[in-house]
Amino acid sequence: MNAKIKGTKDYFGINGEKINIVFSILEDIAKQYSYGKIITPTLEYTDLFSRVIGSETEVVNKEMYTFLDKKNRSISLRPEGTAATARAAIENKLIDNNNKPSFYYISSMFRYERPQKGRQREFFQFGIENFGNDNEYVDVEIILMAIDILKRLKVKKYELQINSIGDSNSRKEYNKSLRRFVENKIDLFSEYAKEKINSGNLLRIFDSKKESDLKILNNAPKIKDFLSEKSKKRFERIKKILELNNINYIENNSLVRGLDYYNDLVFEFVSTDIEKLGSKSTIIGGGRYDELVNKLDNSKNIPSVGFALGVERLMLASKDYLESLNFGNLDYYIATTNEEYNLLGLSIATNLRNKGNNVLVDYENKKLSKKIELASKSLANNLIIIGEESKDGIISIKDLKSGKQKQINIKEIQ
Ligand code: HAM
Repeated sequence: MNAKIKGTKDYFGINGEKINIVFSILEDIAKQYSYGKIITPTLEYTDLFSRVIGSETEVVNKEMYTFLDKKNRSISLRPEGTAATARAAIENKLIDNNNKPSFYYISSMFRYERPQKGRQREFFQFGIENFGNDNEYVDVEIILMAIDILKRLKVKKYELQINSIGDSNSRKEYNKSLRRFVENKIDLFSEYAKEKINSGNLLRIFDSKKESDLKILNNAPKIKDFLSEKSKKRFERIKKILELNNINYIENNSLVRGLDYYNDLVFEFVSTDIEKLGSKSTIIGGGRYDELVNKLDNSKNIPSVGFALGVERLMLASKDYLESLNFGNLDYYIATTNEEYNLLGLSIATNLRNKGNNVLVDYENKKLSKKIELASKSLANNLIIIGEESKDGIISIKDLKSGKQKQINIKEIQ
């Protein structure tokens, strides 16, 4: 087959330029907040994701690309970046009580979901993971970082939703109460919700996308009534710091996020730009995951917090801004009018490149008018035409933005 796999994308031309610009903005901001780059493998043992993300989550249970390798080991394409970042930090002995590294990544992730606007099977995620800090200011700082990203990309139509899902003890108590609530309503729920009720991981029922499920759950007990004093205080402090920083937020008590590793703060930046992203699409999601590292290495207790965003979703939300940018990164397009001028074309190009310019030479044996058309399409800033006059040391140079053309002495450019 000559077609790409459903839910995947090729990037080239203007779209390639756009995604590169977004990558570099994300990297710049990550560095401003003192995060260091991490690259982990695309493949991990499936068990890592089942243990860390949770085997009852949609991501692990339904959406992972999993296969057996030649030695019958179960391997998966990573569906997200947090699990592998924690694995790498532990395995490479990067975290302990004295070392508190923070990482960012830009990598493709894989989820077998139904593709639609902003939802792919292979997508780029930018994520940050902060290990070793349990100060509420760090929770707020990563929210500020996410806001910086949206600001830089001129994304304005969104809301920040936050919630606290407490510690594991609070969630155990909450689970019991939730079970009592759903017990006599099982028949009213969707197949998805019924599955979650039977699984014992009842919190995942809130991940349902069915309106009818969510309507019933509106009357369910709320996690906020089961929080420990410590968790309650922590959440209050976070809200206070957000307010002191003039950050608008919506407290959404049904927000639980689709992954098992979170505790206390969870948050999402949800697009309200229905035209660009459809209804209620989450651009950025994250939260605290203090027990994750311990699950992988029980000698360590490392409070951690992070978030990730879908780069393609962010690009859809930032469409107007990205379209307003000028992508002409070619300084010179050199058109030779005849094969005998190719050698001179190459020598001028070499000189210009040595001075740091981006240069393309069109050596093809075609009409000058065609070369001029291609030069305009290439978004180059300048067109150099090498013809008959070059024998007298003269070439033409045209500023493709203003349309102004002049003749110059070759020496001026060499
Ligand atoms: P997540 O909510 O599963 O969280 O994904 C984060 C973001 O990735 C989403 O908000 C969305 O923008 C993007 N995303 C997810 N699935 C797709 C898809 N199929 N197509 C396009 N974009 C998608 C996590 O992955 C956590 N690891 C975030 C985190 C980091 N929490 C703590 N640290």
